[in-house]
Amino acid sequence: AALQTRNTFGVAATAPVLAEVADASRLAEALQTPELRDGIALVLGGGSNLLFAGDPEGPVLALSGQRVQPLDAAPDCDGAIVRADAGVPWHAFVMRMLDAGYAGLENLALIPGTVGAAPIQNIGAYGVEVREFVHAVEAYEPASGRLHRFDNAACRFGYRDSLFKHAPDRYLITAVEFALPRTPALRLDYAGIAEELTAMGVDAPTPRAVAEAVIAIRRRKLPDPAQLGNAGSFFKNPILPRAQAEALLAEHPSLPVFRGADEHSRKLSAAWLIDACGWKGHRDGDAGVSAAHALVLVNHGQASGAQLLDLARRIAASVQARFGVAIEPEPRLIGARW
Ligand code: EPU
Repeated sequence: AALQTRNTFGVAATAPVLAEVADASRLAEALQTPELRDGIALVLGGGSNLLFAGDPEGPVLALSGQRVQPLDAAPDCDGAIVRADAGVPWHAFVMRMLDAGYAGLENLALIPGTVGAAPIQNIGAYGVEVREFVHAVEAYEPASGRLHRFDNAACRFGYRDSLFKHAPDRYLITAVEFALPRTPALRLDYAGIAEELTAMGVDAPTPRAVAEAVIAIRRRKLPDPAQLGNAGSFFKNPILPRAQAEALLAEHPSLPVFRGADEHSRKLSAAWLIDACGWKGHRDGDAGVSAAHALVLVNHGQASGAQLLDLARRIAASVQARFGVAIEPEPRLIGARW
């Protein structure tokens, strides 16, 4: 099966089999069929957080369930628990929850991908991470044939990280339960959001208005994968010991430094480091760096995954040479190691 239209980089790749399962309760059965019983190489969601540097070495599975169900009143807030199937497109889910009067996900509008992929890398944007609203994750473990339910703590969320990211394909996420408040607690502190609302003429923002502001900022800064192939940020923002970050800041006063997970660590802007090395807008054939955002690799048309990976390696090497900082890819690499 051809995968070029199933990854937002739009690079060519081929899988021996592409199986779609809509009803997660039939997953066990599907995994026993001759096509799939020797194991699957990859679970594919929206294809927005991976790079096919080569072909997957076995069958590819897509969970396409689309149910969204409100469950109970949420225990710790005035909202509700809402359960969504893994296959539900993320942005549509965010907008549907806002329309239904639930707050919380507004800063995460317009992130590509599916509900099932969201917890894997703990998607985040504009000062909010999805971990804050994940109540539980349901996942099937092919090796044991068991359906597990991970509560929030069991997911071991970190910055662009979770238990699921460490054991790729061990668990197939079938559904996610979100705890969503009805009373908004707007987060407007991230640079640009408040300014955008002002520019929109909004002075008493609602969650919906914040989502509109986020959408406007993202449309300006991040290329639309439908127009220009990309997978969002290609590198994670590096986390360094505080002393090393402060030394770099002393040398480069305009370097954006954010707080890390604790007092001893700091997060740097990978975009700034890459930009400072002159890569923004760079192009090698069809593999390039976005002219709008240095953290985003783009496919101008016919780039292969291997060409994009080669460019990524040269970018990381230049940042290492100039700043002594290692940057690592954020999307999952298929068919190659970093
Ligand atoms: N900057 C540059 N050059 C650029 C772009 C940015 O120097 O070309 C500097 C600017 O100083 C800017 C700073 O980098 O203030 C931070 O840029 P931005 O606000 O765009 O955020 P980011 O750290 O580059 C992260 C996430 C994005 C998320 C934005 C907004 C990661 C890896 N990326 O990017 O997430 O949308 O914050 O919250 O954490 C993704 O994960 O795919 C993604 C797009």
